[in-house]
This record gives sequence, structure tokens and C-alpha cells, in this order.
Amino acid sequence: MHRVLSGIQPSGIPTLGNYLGAIRNWVALQDTHDCLFCVVNLHAITGFQDPALLRANTLEMAATLLACGIDPARSVLFVQSAVSAHARLAWIFNCIARLGWLNRMTQFKDKAGRDRESASAGLYVYPNLMAADIHTYHATRVPVGDDQRQHVELANDIAEKFNHDYGVDFFPRVEPLILPEAARIMSLRDGTRKMSKSDPSDQSRINLTDDADAIALKIRRARTDPAPLPHDAAGLADRPEARNLVAIYAAITGAEVAHVLAEHGGHGFGAFKEALAERLVSRLAPVAAETRRLLADTAHLEQTLRQGAARADALAEPIVAEAERIVGFLS
Ligand code: TYM
Repeated sequence: MHRVLSGIQPSGIPTLGNYLGAIRNWVALQDTHDCLFCVVNLHAITGFQDPALLRANTLEMAATLLACGIDPARSVLFVQSAVSAHARLAWIFNCIARLGWLNRMTQFKDKAGRDRESASAGLYVYPNLMAADIHTYHATRVPVGDDQRQHVELANDIAEKFNHDYGVDFFPRVEPLILPEAARIMSLRDGTRKMSKSDPSDQSRINLTDDADAIALKIRRARTDPAPLPHDAAGLADRPEARNLVAIYAAITGAEVAHVLAEHGGHGFGAFKEALAERLVSRLAPVAAETRRLLADTAHLEQTLRQGAARADALAEPIVAEAERIVGFLS
């Protein structure tokens, strides 16, 4: 059985993009794979996080994952900082990855923006830590959105160079699992930008904790163009906002884009947005309610995460100890 590992940053409230691009796939994979999911707080502090808010967001992220259907009896759910093996392997990988490789990472360029000189060193080596998250468990499948594809490829480059430099066959190749229809859910305000939990505009995204009124309002206000919906997918070319809303509708209902357009093609956006909001509310309202219920008992939530960390640690320790032995560290 392939082992799955994936992570999500507690740098805000999870969005519809996280859900459609990654989390719903995590939930499905539990039936067929040996799964580990982590809330990656080490990654989150590559940009400054208020400590109290980071703690609250970490718990809220864990509660949301449970509410979406991550089952701690079947999957290992934990917080990254609680398993020190990740940081130890990340340091080794900092010494394996080449500056030239990191210089090609598009996410660093996007996140650092124009002022690269003042980005943290952590943001630069962020993909090495992500490679460590995966290889700490010898995971071979990584369910992510399209924006993480390049990082997963880098994890393969790092594994290959480690194996080559030390003359071992220790770290396996990994494959990203990307859902094609929801690989990249876009902002509701700008169909050319990714929907993101760190976008300053709350109107740009649906948060998994939004209530029915907020969801309906954001969808009603979502940017569109004046033309009616097309009758087929080809008609969505050069219409990024329309394409995004149709993709969201298809992903949330499990229907093909062609099927959605067969039903709604030729109509204006008013009725379509209403139908979309209704579908979103019926899927997300129970998640928001369950998240609130779980957050009312933080002691239980923290206990679940501690148990997850103990299980993750038991899997990680022999693998990372062996990597350290290969490198030549005294045990
Ligand atoms: P993060 O926290 O940005 O996002 C979590 C997951 O959600 C996906 N995603 C999206 N998918 C489709 N459309 C969108 N608009 C959208 N926004 C986010 C992301 O691709 C991701 O799968 N570096 C990772 C976290 C990480 C990780 C790992 C992932 C750390 N270690 C190891 C896999 C394996 C990140 O920042 O995800």
C-alpha cells in the first residue's frame, strides 16, 4: 500500500481552494492508502505569525480537517512542530539541495515579491522542509493542488541526489496526486489569481467557516463578465472568472464541466450563482458546524493531536535515524 503524506499551513482559515484542491482528496484517500496529514506550523512561520493567532489557527485547522472527514482512527493527524524528525531531516536536505534549484521555485518568487532581500531565509528553504515532511515517512504519494507540483518535483531531485551522493537507495520517488478539475481554484475577485487564505481581501475567497449568508453574498458579488454562460467548455477560454465558477460548481457537485454547461449554458450568471451558492452552503454548512463543535472542546482536540504526533514520531524516528547514520552522524 502506498503511503500518503500531505500538509496545510495554519496561516489563516482554510479556503474552498484548499478543500476542493486537496482536503476532499485526503478524505477519499483514507479508504485506499496509509495516510499522514500534518498542520505545518514550521512552514507557517516563514512569514511572521502572531503567536496567539498561530496557536488558535493551528487548532482551528485541525478541527476543520476533522470536520471535513479526516478520521484520526485511520489516518495520522498531527502538528509538524511536535515531531522533531522533520526539522532534523530538513537540515540534511538544506545541505543536499542546490541554490540553483531553489532559485527556480516560482512560489518563492511570488511570495517574496519585489523585496527579496527582506524575505526570511526560512521562506527560501521552505521546499527543503516540505521534502523532509514527505521523506521522513518514506511517503510515495502526495495529494496537493497544482501550486505545489514544483515542490514535489524538488522532493524527487533531493531524494535522488541524497541517494547518489551517499551511494544508497534509501529515499523513494514520490508522485503528486492532483485533481485535474480543481487543481487551481481562483480568487472570486480576479480569475487570474489563486484563491488564497492569505489574500488580504476576504471577498476573494470562501472560508470553510463562512456561514450561509456570507457564502451567498460572496458568490453573488463574485466577478463575472456580461456574457451568458457558454454551452461548452471551449466557450470558457479567455473567460477566467466564468471558468472558475463553473469549475467550482463541477467540483462541489461531482459533475463534469460539460454536464454543468449543458444544464446552465445560455443562462445569465444570476440564476447560476444562486444555484452555486445553494450547493456550496449545503456542502460547507455541516463542516462549519462540526468545526465549531470540535473547537468547543480544545482539550480533546489537543489530545487527538498529541496521539497523532506520537504515532507520527514512532514512524519517523527509525527512518530519520537511518538517514543520520548514512550521513555519518554518531548515534
Ligand atoms: P497550503 O497551506 O498553501 O495549501 C494546502 C493545500 O491546498 C492546496 N491549495 C489549492 N488547491 C487548489 N486551488 C487553490 N486555490 C488552492 N490553494 C491551496 C495546496 O496546493 C495544498 O495542497 N507547502 C504546502 C504545505 C506542505 C505540504 C507538505 C504539502 C508542507 N509540507 C508536504 C504536501 C506535502 C502549502 O503551503 O500548502
